Amino acid sequence: MKIEFSADTGADNTTAVVVFAFEKEPLGGAAASLDQTTGGAVARAIAGGRFSAAMGQTLDLIAPHGLEAARVLVVGAGAAGKLDGHAAELAAAHAYQALKTSGVARLAIQLSGVSAELAAHAALGVRLAAYRFDRYRTTEKADKKQSVTTVRLVVDDPEAATTAYSALSGLGDAIIFARDLVSEPANILYPEEFARRVNKLSDLGLEVEILGEREMAALGMGALLGVGQGSVRESQLAILQWRGAADPSAQPIAFVGKGVCFDTGGISLKGAEGMEEMITDMGGAAAVAGAMAALASRKAKVNAVGILGLVENLPDGNALRPGDVVTTMSGQTVEVINTDAEGRLVLADALWYCQNRFKPKFMIDLATLTGAIIVSLGKDLGGLFSNDDALAANLMSASKASADALWRMPMPSQYEKQIESNVADMKNVGVRYGGSITAALFIQRFVNGLPWAHLDIASTAWKPASTVPTIPNGATGFGVRLLDRLVADFYES
Ligand code: BES
Ligand code: MN
Ligand code: ZN
Repeated sequence: MKIEFSADTGADNTTAVVVFAFEKEPLGGAAASLDQTTGGAVARAIAGGRFSAAMGQTLDLIAPHGLEAARVLVVGAGAAGKLDGHAAELAAAHAYQALKTSGVARLAIQLSGVSAELAAHAALGVRLAAYRFDRYRTTEKADKKQSVTTVRLVVDDPEAATTAYSALSGLGDAIIFARDLVSEPANILYPEEFARRVNKLSDLGLEVEILGEREMAALGMGALLGVGQGSVRESQLAILQWRGAADPSAQPIAFVGKGVCFDTGGISLKGAEGMEEMITDMGGAAAVAGAMAALASRKAKVNAVGILGLVENLPDGNALRPGDVVTTMSGQTVEVINTDAEGRLVLADALWYCQNRFKPKFMIDLATLTGAIIVSLGKDLGGLFSNDDALAANLMSASKASADALWRMPMPSQYEKQIESNVADMKNVGVRYGGSITAALFIQRFVNGLPWAHLDIASTAWKPASTVPTIPNGATGFGVRLLDRLVADFYES
């Protein structure tokens, strides 16, 4: 889909003209002039119905008299004083959702009188709304195909809007990069393929290194390698570095992602029902890769490291068995009670490697870690666990600003005894109840005294039934925007 900025509407009979309306406001600007050209049809349609201009409400005028355009769509943008970047994205995305299969080829979204910045957000909103993972569709019924191929943002100053959009579109690319990774089936996206895809991010100026099993064995990563040992695919560790700070050797911040390309559960095999969703079990790694891409594409003034632990968890003659003891890179030993609690084993070694090599200011890990977080928080909130109130507060602030919603979870030390083992330093699972918390307590044992946060995004990485117009059903890209915003608001010099 093409996105363009222009001062002209350029509407022909394949175009829907879109205007924003605001609650309790008379029709203004573009809406008022469209009302005039159509002989009052817009005002009549509003008066004759229940349209209140609440965010996302739409009013569709087909074949409007006096206009060449095929349609006029009035989209509610909420309260007039509250049109910020987020609202502009939502309103434009709602318009796109309302018209995407209508048959019109073009949208002309009227934004005269709207700042270049907000127009750029409207464009981003459409871009995210139009996301579809359709690489593997070879046939599709004509009425299901998306008909819109061009979206024009009609603005006062196209040049200013284009400039504003170029600063934002890298974020859009990064979210879509992450969504594509999450959507790819596991026969295509196995650890080495994931590594190849992040390798291409070097085009943005990221330094990328990939470690294979031999290198990880030499480092003593017995937990991560243990998870991958039942798969014929080779485990990988991807290390991404962005050096954007004035001092390229300044202490970095660090993100670590769980990248389980497929999680069968291993010998502690999952049930068949819904197991296909485990192609998304690399959502944390995808978010970290996407966030690093976003930082690089806007040349963020920060040094940042992204570490991705890439494995596949499969049952096999060589797979980990329940009861096996693995030695982690930290030297701590783990009795593997349940091979389906594999994400924490991957993170244990990835986090240890990260702090050992980079001595970062803080580490944030992102992981589709537990089904229990879905039970705790539902599908709209990610779980935030942290050993540091300041870092947690910054994350909560970035969460509110980015609409990647988090909720802070407790880490009560009385649950530590659940992961005590009779044979090793710890075991990898506690009881079923509070399973996200014992998982976080486990991971914390591999954090050596620095500020750390763990985001359990098993709840939010994948939405079978999304209610947000910028997030089509499926992969959300959750976390990319959150981390980009966190850096922008708190860690750029
Ligand atoms: N990848 C799963 C968690 C998950 C569940 C992600 C649902 C996305 C949607 C994780 O590896 C897992 O299997 N966790 C187990 C832990 C248990 C064995 C302690 C779980 O949540 O059941
Ligand atoms: Mn698992
Ligand atoms: Zn998993």
